Amino acid sequence: MARARVIYECQNCGFQSPKWLGRCPDCARWDSLVEEAVTARPGTPVDGDAGPARSPSPIHAVTTDTDSRLRSGIEEFDRVLGGGLVDGSAVLIGGDPGIGKSTLLLQAVAALSHDGPPCLYVSGEESEQQVKMRGRRISLASSNLLVLSETSLERILEQVKAVKPAVLVVDSIQTVHTSAIPSAPGSIGQVRECSSALISLAKKTGIATFLVGHVTKDGAIAGPRVLEHMVDTVLYFEGERGHSFRILRAVKNRFGSTNEIGVFEMQEAGLREVSNPSQIFLSERPLGGSGSVVVPSMEGTRPILVEIQSLVTRSFLTLPRRTCIGVDTSRVALILAILEKRKGMNFFDKDVFINVAGGVSVSEPAVDLGIAVGVASSAQDRPVDPYMIFVGEVGLAGEIRTVSRAEARVAEAGKLGFRKCVLPQGNCKQLPHIEHPELIGVRSLEECWEILF
Ligand code: TYD
Ligand code: MG
Repeated sequence: MARARVIYECQNCGFQSPKWLGRCPDCARWDSLVEEAVTARPGTPVDGDAGPARSPSPIHAVTTDTDSRLRSGIEEFDRVLGGGLVDGSAVLIGGDPGIGKSTLLLQAVAALSHDGPPCLYVSGEESEQQVKMRGRRISLASSNLLVLSETSLERILEQVKAVKPAVLVVDSIQTVHTSAIPSAPGSIGQVRECSSALISLAKKTGIATFLVGHVTKDGAIAGPRVLEHMVDTVLYFEGERGHSFRILRAVKNRFGSTNEIGVFEMQEAGLREVSNPSQIFLSERPLGGSGSVVVPSMEGTRPILVEIQSLVTRSFLTLPRRTCIGVDTSRVALILAILEKRKGMNFFDKDVFINVAGGVSVSEPAVDLGIAVGVASSAQDRPVDPYMIFVGEVGLAGEIRTVSRAEARVAEAGKLGFRKCVLPQGNCKQLPHIEHPELIGVRSLEECWEILF
């Protein structure tokens, strides 16, 4: 009998070492190396042979059938996947506990299997009764949906091969374990072996597979980093505590664009899709308050109007506070520095708080102008026209630079009843045909200030 080899594996990043170390040399985390016994030969998929050897073929001779996508009919969900679910694709979905991953996937497979092919939902965390109770809550009605409460990889594979579902959900990958390696469920080794077996089964049989992944304290998907490389699509399901909005975000997608988002609202009876997020994000906006500015931000292919709120107050601290929720702190520091230098404003004795309403985050430079205007509006306590939106990247010299997709942004603002749009002069010239909203092109902060303050 082969002697079990022992290795030490970092539970944070998957680094392996033949001897124990106090600190992982790869990710620098302390006390993260755990002893794992290796019995399976490295590189051997748990579910057996890898099939006959194949020879390379010319790229024009390769046939693709990725156009046959399974659509759930839940628009927000399908769009994030790139227009539906591709056969044999492996999708990893991560998110904080209690955010609604299980609810989302149960609703999705219920919709996919309704009048469609059979789907299998495997839960390692809940019993079949618990899944059924959740199903009742979201009034799920699909006779083609099978549920299984199981944590053993071998038994899951056996059932999948017997049932031959079109879609498989494994909730969650951290609860599944294989007897091929002796380490505990949830350890890096187990997660890697189990996911590689499930993914290779997906590729071989064409079963689209969803894997639910737990996230760590820092918000990344727990488990080996290779897990994100192994799958075709990585989705994050996010939301702020205390808000009912949930955002499904694609961070990697081999079959569609990333940065695409789907917006949902968690209700008593499950998740409801929000097809016009701008309206919802702006619904509680105080009209005429200083520091409140609306910006059109691109989320994937879609413009979304969000309200950025700024509050500038006197500081009694040696190091004034800069608190940003939903926008990048270093970007805000840059904008404050530009306002100090170019507009003569002082922030050294001021606390600056910036928040994007509704728990959304915006990361593109096109929101710079909105932040600059909001900060100035709050600092001077002078409200800006509530029916005016701002878009533009602010350069270090105070110039306003052109942004991408200006037309889509302006159109969204027009649709929601905004009357004026302040945008970079460069973009304004490209859109002479737009009459509503009124476009105001600016070249610098100076020109923008002349209009506003
Ligand atoms: P869940 O899908 O179990 O989260 P996850 O799988 O990400 O851990 O969601 C649980 C939360 O959602 C729970 O706090 C209750 C809430 N919820 C509703 O508000 N309405 C519903 O219809 C359902 C099923 C859950
Ligand atoms: Mg769950």
